[in-house]
Amino acid sequence: MARNMFTRTFDRRVRLLFKTLGFAALFGGVFGTYALWGANQETGYEPEQPIMFSHKVMAGTHEIECLYCHGNAEIGAHAGIPTVSECMKCHDEVKGRTAQSKERIAVLLEHWEEKKEIRWVKVHDLADFVYFNHSRHVAAGLDCTECHGDVKTMDRVKRVHSLKMGWCLDCHKQDPPEDAPPHQDTRAPIHCSACHR
Ligand code: HEC
Ligand code: HEC
Ligand code: HEC
Ligand code: HEC
Ligand code: HEC
Repeated sequence: MARNMFTRTFDRRVRLLFKTLGFAALFGGVFGTYALWGANQETGYEPEQPIMFSHKVMAGTHEIECLYCHGNAEIGAHAGIPTVSECMKCHDEVKGRTAQSKERIAVLLEHWEEKKEIRWVKVHDLADFVYFNHSRHVAAGLDCTECHGDVKTMDRVKRVHSLKMGWCLDCHKQDPPEDAPPHQDTRAPIHCSACHR
């Protein structure tokens, strides 16, 4: 009968095969979800900071220029974060009007009195094998919002783009605007060694 058509070894092998496939599907599913989850987290990444520093209040309501605090973006690779003593240029005087701002500024003053640096949590962090330079992008006329979103509406800075290679290349492959000055009438580099030196 059909039952006896296969030898016992064959039977065992078939069962082993199905078990292997089952495990593969399970692990595939778990790893797949993990990989996709990772990607989602990277774009929405919005870590809590040691001081509740609100760009919405500082850059939005009080209209302090991005470059006032991140001036290095114009001249160097890194935009830079102001030091405590740079904050104190204003906060020597400004202690806050509302209960909320008083409370938040008090944490800054504590750091100042104890001579402690503020350990800000990085929102954007490219792998070390990638070369990126702010000044070249700012000089090319790109606004901060193109890469960081509308930061002046954010209470807590959030990563709005993945910063993956595909994202950089999507922009680099675009044709320059019609009215681009002569030295920018080529596309941005897409050869590997531009970003991997
Ligand atoms: C008063 C100073 C100040 C001003 C003005 C300011 N920032 Fe910031 N910025 C900071 C500080 C402090 C941090 C670190 C804390 C944080 O991430 O919220 C920061 C963080 C950031 C980050 C995240 C850095 C990271 O970890 O990857 C971005 C992006 C940024 N600022 C963009 C902007 C833009 C765009 C503007 C203008 C709309 C602006 N900032 C205005 C002080 C300032
Ligand atoms: C150019 C002046 C200036 C600089 C520089 C500056 N601040 Fe402020 N900051 C202000 C003003 C103005 C307010 C509003 C105060 C109020 O609401 O009464 C404020 C408010 C705040 C608040 C409370 C905001 C809220 O959510 O209510 C915090 C926290 C704060 N600053 C932290 C910082 C830190 C940290 C730095 C340095 C990285 C910094 N500030 C640099 C001018 C400045
Ligand atoms: C072409 C895209 C692009 C533009 C335009 C851009 N940034 Fe960035 N920014 C990045 C990337 C990518 C990183 C992560 C760099 C790293 O991890 O080495 C970053 C990191 C930062 C950081 C945190 C770390 C650092 O570099 O010091 C700050 C603050 C920041 N940007 C502010 C700004 C401000 C302010 C502007 C506008 C003047 C601006 N950025 C314009 C892409 C951009
Ligand atoms: C929104 C558009 C845009 C995005 C996004 C962007 N770039 Fe660029 N990039 C440019 C333009 C425009 C230039 C040309 C600037 C010039 O000609 O001086 C450029 C030039 C460069 C250069 C050559 C100049 C230099 O600094 O050596 C490098 C390297 C570079 N980009 C790296 C990156 C990396 C890495 C990323 C992603 C993390 C990125 N860029 C994302 C627009 C962009
Ligand atoms: C415009 C900038 C840019 C150019 C040009 C570029 N890369 Fe990348 N590359 C990146 C960034 C950004 C990452 C992501 C780093 C991260 O995930 O933190 C990356 C990551 C990688 C990785 C790691 C795997 C991954 O996908 O995360 C490899 C491998 C790589 N690049 C190879 C290349 C090769 C080969 C070329 C040329 C065909 C190239 N890259 C051109 C910016 C660039």
